[in-house]
Amino acid sequence: MKVSLETRALTEARADALILGRHAGESRLAPALAAVDKALGGLLTKVMAAETFEGKPGQLTHVHSDGRLRAAHVLVAGLGPQKGADAEAVRRAASAAARRARELGAKSAAAYLAVEGLSARARAQATVEGAVLGSYRFDKYLKEKSPKRLDALAVVEPERRQQGAAQAGLRAGEIWAEATCLARDLVNEPANVMTPTYLAQRAQEIARSGRLGLKVLERADCAKLGMGAYVGVAQGSEEPPKFIHLTYKPRGRARRRVAVIGKGITFDSGGLDLKPADGMYRMKDDMSGAAAVLGLFQALPKLGLPIEVHGLIAATENMPSGTAQRPGDVVRAMNGLTIEIGNTDAEGRLTLADALAYAAQEIKPDEMVDVATLTGAVVVGLGMGLSGVFSSDDGLAGRVLGGAETAGEKMWRLPLHEEYKEGLKSDIADLNNISTQRGGGAIVAGLFMRDFTGGKPWAHLDIAGTAFTERELPLGPKGGTGVGVRTLLAYLSGIAGRR
Ligand code: BES
Ligand code: MN
Ligand code: ZN
Repeated sequence: MKVSLETRALTEARADALILGRHAGESRLAPALAAVDKALGGLLTKVMAAETFEGKPGQLTHVHSDGRLRAAHVLVAGLGPQKGADAEAVRRAASAAARRARELGAKSAAAYLAVEGLSARARAQATVEGAVLGSYRFDKYLKEKSPKRLDALAVVEPERRQQGAAQAGLRAGEIWAEATCLARDLVNEPANVMTPTYLAQRAQEIARSGRLGLKVLERADCAKLGMGAYVGVAQGSEEPPKFIHLTYKPRGRARRRVAVIGKGITFDSGGLDLKPADGMYRMKDDMSGAAAVLGLFQALPKLGLPIEVHGLIAATENMPSGTAQRPGDVVRAMNGLTIEIGNTDAEGRLTLADALAYAAQEIKPDEMVDVATLTGAVVVGLGMGLSGVFSSDDGLAGRVLGGAETAGEKMWRLPLHEEYKEGLKSDIADLNNISTQRGGGAIVAGLFMRDFTGGKPWAHLDIAGTAFTERELPLGPKGGTGVGVRTLLAYLSGIAGRR
């Protein structure tokens, strides 16, 4: 989608569809709406009254302008009550309207979605994010692709002294949303295509076009570094593992060094502790954390944030075979800790353990964040609408949650309850990868991983419930959601003082 700034008034905008917003409980039309209504001879007010359009979030109405405006269609999207309306209200309105405009056959749209208290920059960014994310489709494997496509979106900002801010916002919105769509594409890709090798190739493309540093470690390199936990998971698969290390360095002095680690299991069969069919079906999405990291690194060079960022993905399949790791095996991770394999299906924490240890030892970051589809337990606890956040550092937790808030991605902090550490004891190794105690599985996984962070401030996002959706959401269709990309971008922008 081509995104641009429209400096003319809405009624003058050259587009197939005009998109406007309306708050719930508004007795009088806002000036922009009133101007369009006037140009339409009061048609908009009539239709809204007839349809009892209340301006609820997600509500949408449209009229044909019948030649009275340059645009053929006028769409009004609900923004919800004025009080409490935020960037997310704008995103959702833009998303719903962009989808409808596309269905109506519009190729271009001009949007003016104003919410009180939201800066011109934030409004432009939210409008673009909503329209781009809402229009996302994964149709590369379909013979019949829909001819309906919204090719262009103009964000209307008639106020001259706000136009610089709006331009900056729409550029950021475009970068953030495109990065999220990249992550969605990667998650939606089936596991027969999305192998560790393919993931590494995609990382290489991103590194090339963004002039990033890239190191890909092969199985033997990882073994040499002592990554026994990661290599142990990989040993059951015919697909060679790839340990991906991306580096973004700013032009000037970096304010901070951050490591971002994504779980990259390209397919999780469970290993010898095989998953049942129902539980295995969706397990191509077990590299959603890795997808978020690649999305982030597509965006970083375009944004030029003054932070050094390292992206790590210990990519592998988790498969059962004659060479697969057995329950009861003992492996040694890069930081020297030995782990008894209580269950081969708790593989994510094993691969992340070595990625975290690598980060702590080789990169020595100021702080690190991992993103992982880690546990079914977080889905039980928080459902499909919230990601779990764990952190060894309150300041970092606050920065990550602040990023999630800005991005509109819902997250909730859960405790690393010390007493559950007890359950991870093994009789013959330093740790077991599963607990002998019942319940609290997402916390237990977090506690396990903390032992590999080398005492660095660390946050962990468990996105098992949010990475993939079985139903259409306000900001996207079924499938990969790209969750985490915009939260990470907002978190890093926050550190850079650009928010
Ligand atoms: N990839 C799964 C977690 C998962 C579950 C992601 C549902 C998305 C949706 C992870 O590797 C896993 O299998 N976890 C086990 C751990 C258990 C064996 C301790 C789980 O949560 O059941
Ligand atoms: Mn598993
Ligand atoms: Zn897994």
